[in-house]
Amino acid sequence: MSGYAKVKGISNADHYATTTARIQQIQSQLETKPRGGKLRNKVCVVTGVGSLLGIGRASALTFAHEGAKHLYLLDYDPTNLPELKSTIEKKYPDVKVTTLQADAADEKAIAGICEQALREEGRLDVFFANAGVATREHLDDVSPETFMNTMRVNTLSCFLAVKHASAAMQKTDSSRGKNESGGSIILTASTAGLLSGAGSIDYSASKAAVNSIAKTSPYQLQRTNIRINSLCPGLIETGMTNFTFEYARQKGSAGKIGQLNPLGRYGVAQEIANAALFLASDDSSYVNGQNFAVDGGLTASMPVVPGRWA
Ligand SMILES: NC(=O)c1ccc[n+]([C@@H]2O[C@H](COP(=O)([O-])OP(=O)(O)OC[C@H]3O[C@@H](n4cnc5c(N)ncnc54)[C@H](O)[C@@H]3O)[C@@H](O)[C@H]2O)c1
Repeated sequence: MSGYAKVKGISNADHYATTTARIQQIQSQLETKPRGGKLRNKVCVVTGVGSLLGIGRASALTFAHEGAKHLYLLDYDPTNLPELKSTIEKKYPDVKVTTLQADAADEKAIAGICEQALREEGRLDVFFANAGVATREHLDDVSPETFMNTMRVNTLSCFLAVKHASAAMQKTDSSRGKNESGGSIILTASTAGLLSGAGSIDYSASKAAVNSIAKTSPYQLQRTNIRINSLCPGLIETGMTNFTFEYARQKGSAGKIGQLNPLGRYGVAQEIANAALFLASDDSSYVNGQNFAVDGGLTASMPVVPGRWA
């Protein structure tokens, strides 16, 4: 049987069952994998950690699993911050956690959290600027105010992270083991910042600007050993997208979600957290200025039509 025929023989229902099992396995990684030390001794800030299904929360837990020294966790919605702090402290008692209710696009708050890390720990090693909002309005309905607010939350927040985190990462303190300037700044962009068709105009423009910040900052921070990269997630089930998934499940069409990319499935927050861990850790010591798509191959391919071949 040819490869094409083999794929044609897989029903949508079978593919969805495989997807569900794969996703369950990915979501239980922190329960099944032994703890690692990829972030040992590193002081990290993560923004946008407040959503229970979100990329920020999954990343905070993953960074703790990998032995981060102190996590500074920020969200403007305080609802889930105490629970996240106590979950990490119970499961990973060696990891210090500080939570902050603040706007990721507020310069005082971002400068303040970087200064706090320097004051308390003498160093800042990782800043994951992940907070963001999505809008869905058609062009006709996007006001200048909406446009500017999306740019403020999604893009200004990343600019402020680069500005203040890079200043903090250049500070050394030999008593805390930081003898040289260095660090990793990770910005959450989106596939919508690479291609059209994945978001509204204001959202896509805000994320394209984030990708530009990731490419232009390394030039400005040359010879500082500070790396800046952006992550471009594809379709991930989080608080931001959950309504689409619930709607499809209610309609019985959940098997179709994500079928346009070559993996033929959607992703979950843990998969973006794993990519953020790579960029945060010294495993990516020569990766700088990249827009790193984590999207099942979506942006590498023409839309996949299941069962049809080019
Ligand atoms: N889910 C996806 O399919 C997808 C795809 C591409 C990119 N992204 C990006 O991933 C990032 C994380 O989103 P998510 O999918 O985990 O969504 P989410 O809604 O689950 O989490 C986003 C979090 O950011 C917080 N937040 C929003 N505005 C903030 C602000 N001004 N200050 C501080 N916190 C703020 C929210 O309270 C929330 O906890 C966002 O930047 C989003 O644009 C998501």
